Amino acid sequence: MPEADLYELAERYRPEFPVFRSAVYLNSCSLGALSRRGRAALDRFADLWDRWGAAAWYEHWLDAAQDVRAAFARLISVDEDETALAASISAALASIVSAIDFEARPRVVTTELDFPTVVYHFLARRRLGVEPVVLKSPDGVSVPVEAFEAAIDERTALVATSHVYYTTGAIQDIGAVARSAHAKGALCLVDAYQSTGQVPVDARDLDVDFLLSGSLKWLLGGQGLAFMFARRALCQRLTPTTVGWFGAEDQFTFDSGTLRLRGDARRFELGTPAVPTVYTARAGLELVHEIGVDRIRRRLASLTEDLRRRARSAGLRIRGASEPEARSAIVMIEHPDPAAAVRRLADAGVVVDYRPGAVRLSPHFYNTTEDNARAIEVLAGDGGVGGRR
Ligand SMILES: Cc1ncc(COP(=O)(O)O)c(C=O)c1O
Repeated sequence: MPEADLYELAERYRPEFPVFRSAVYLNSCSLGALSRRGRAALDRFADLWDRWGAAAWYEHWLDAAQDVRAAFARLISVDEDETALAASISAALASIVSAIDFEARPRVVTTELDFPTVVYHFLARRRLGVEPVVLKSPDGVSVPVEAFEAAIDERTALVATSHVYYTTGAIQDIGAVARSAHAKGALCLVDAYQSTGQVPVDARDLDVDFLLSGSLKWLLGGQGLAFMFARRALCQRLTPTTVGWFGAEDQFTFDSGTLRLRGDARRFELGTPAVPTVYTARAGLELVHEIGVDRIRRRLASLTEDLRRRARSAGLRIRGASEPEARSAIVMIEHPDPAAAVRRLADAGVVVDYRPGAVRLSPHFYNTTEDNARAIEVLAGDGGVGGRR
């Protein structure tokens, strides 16, 4: 698709996002912007609540939740019965990790670049005999596949890492990591929160065992819902001990005396999902499907190159992958006091975020090069704070 058509994409969809009336929004990797459809979906949820009360569960809400599982399944090219909902990635992890037997294989390989919640689950289990190996990043940007290979052994139960690292935007070669895990008989779990919606993800092709994501970032669905993929064969083999009634077969028989978990990925579900977010998540996924992640990826490649070019010519320093194909739409600009810089940008109407040592900008398909220009103009004019080099 020619560049001009990709630009039209932003022109066409930007009016869907009222945030641009008051701000230059460049923070989709923290929270995707609320669309008009998202707000209409929320109204629809409230109308159903008004009209039906709890009866809306049977008439509407259970179906809406299934629509979301199905839309997520389609997004990552797996089957519906291999997907499940959770309250958060942290909750999804609790359920999955509870199903893994660490006795014969106590080792878990993860990295210092992964989101803390992923690593914490294994640090917390040290007292139960789990041996977390937290790989260092030699360049602070990503972790070489060779480092995974060297750390995974016959005592490794699980490799748990990110598809896109949240602090650097680097895309990890998850297919290669999964191959290394499987070569030693270990499982591979990928935290794809920062990839789904901005980078094409085919869980089957990547050959991962578990994949986690959620609605609030690139999938434009707001807070309160996470998505999980569990490979079908594992759903039959692994039985969680952290469970809930949404994971039970015949959930509505309310039989407390017998626990029979479902045979599909929903055995990892715990309790009542956030139904308002089911509605906004469905709207967000619909938008992403409508546009197509391949198109989004192409648009973001060009937008992020533009952002990097502008930052460099303003004398700012970027932290990120050196190979363009390993870069995503998370752009880290080094700064000695990123919190102050983010406040200054907010005062100027530019919404971005920060992580240690860097200001983090993350455009989505609704952004334009004018947004980039404004952000860099304010950041580079950051006098006293000292981000320039
Ligand atoms: C890569 C990544 N994983 C996990 C999380 C947090 O997940 P949750 O709050 O759903 O547990 C985040 C962030 O907000 C993230 O960026």
